[in-house]
Amino acid sequence: MGVIAIVGGQWGDEGKGRVIDLLAGKANMVVRFSGGDNAGHTVINPYGEFRLHLVPSGIFRPQLTCIIGNGVVINPAVLLEEIDNLQLHGVDTSHLVISDRAHLIMPYHILLDGLEEERRGKGALGTTRRGIGPVFADKVIRLGIRVGDLLDKDMFLSRLRAVLEFKNAILTKVYQVSPLSLEEIYEQYVSYGEQLAPFIGETSSIIHEAVAKGELVLLEGAQGALLDPDFGTYPYVTSSSPLAGAGSIGAGISPMAIVQVIGVLKAYITRVGGGPMPTELKDEVGELIREKGHEYGATTGRPRRCGWFDAVAARFSIQINGFSDLALTHLDIFDGFPSIKICTAYKFDDKVLNSFPSDSSILGKCQPICEELPGWQGPISGIRSLNGLPSEARHYLSRLEELLSCPISFVSVGPEREQMIKVRSILSR
Ligand code: IMO
Ligand code: MG
Repeated sequence: MGVIAIVGGQWGDEGKGRVIDLLAGKANMVVRFSGGDNAGHTVINPYGEFRLHLVPSGIFRPQLTCIIGNGVVINPAVLLEEIDNLQLHGVDTSHLVISDRAHLIMPYHILLDGLEEERRGKGALGTTRRGIGPVFADKVIRLGIRVGDLLDKDMFLSRLRAVLEFKNAILTKVYQVSPLSLEEIYEQYVSYGEQLAPFIGETSSIIHEAVAKGELVLLEGAQGALLDPDFGTYPYVTSSSPLAGAGSIGAGISPMAIVQVIGVLKAYITRVGGGPMPTELKDEVGELIREKGHEYGATTGRPRRCGWFDAVAARFSIQINGFSDLALTHLDIFDGFPSIKICTAYKFDDKVLNSFPSDSSILGKCQPICEELPGWQGPISGIRSLNGLPSEARHYLSRLEELLSCPISFVSVGPEREQMIKVRSILSR
């Protein structure tokens, strides 16, 4: 069947987890390929309500293999807690495999993420403070420590000693805080290694084998296209690529293995942390979306900034990801809205921009040009077919398809597994 990537098309929190949870029913494997525990994927199913940060959202289906790929960065404390919590709720986690190549988030990464945010003061990026920027920086400058390193204690100790000497110099001399203890980190991480050992493997070959057998493999994206380090609103971005293309590298498979790319987008748009957001609503409408949509961060609890659907940003996201289908989530949040707006272009100085600017300071000065569509009364949460939706809701969807030139194949009308309208089948293609 091949590989289907399911990735975020906005600034994260689009509902990727629930789309994966649904499609996983037909899949053989789900692979996380980027990010770390900055991700927070909410899944509601018969086991309960879960906020997954590292474990793939396919974990609830015991028949499939769940992989944390080489492109993910892992905080072992968070991962072990997540595994424990799943087991506590009766979820079998024995089908989880963690790449030995994945990099480890160390205590100094978390500390440095916070110190750097403090240092930036008013210019803080609003990171999740999970150590994401520092760990990816270390990966690239070859100072990282990987999951597989935990399996050889002597090697781990000598690597940690060398890296920590350098990190402690930065902590004490640049930031003027206390150094970290080699012994404490060593003992803690050796214990993590012992607990994680049964899960560690060479995952690229496992995924390759599944692809070769013609199985259905889902790539579970984290974050969203507009947080991409290259194409997002730099520097207000994350530190690994959330794009479908990164799925190939972060899982260790050929880009030609990916046969479909599903972009998950909300019916409106949200953002957590700093950075430009042209359609942000700082009024009671934004407040209403936040309250109705429970728009508070799954990882940090921060209130999310809310705004109208931004078709300029979505078109850009489609361009850089190559979405074959869209999954539009949270449509029910608009129940009872007298009208709904869609941003179709930006106004910058006296010019009309139809494309997403590469310069964040220009984006910050863009005013949205919106069209207004009639709303519906609702509630739509009990509706299970496209034709059952109010005509205004169908009109909203078809206008989006027209503006984006991409089919909407799923529409969610509530958070539960069955509250997803399947407009077109994607698995039979
Ligand atoms: P999921 O997978 C929404 C944002 C942070 C911050 C910026 C950089 O749940 O969609 P970082 O800690 O990555 O260095 O922070 O990126 N961010 C997310 N926003 N959803 C996420 O993940 C995010 N992961 C990071 O808020 O603005
Ligand atoms: Mg999230």
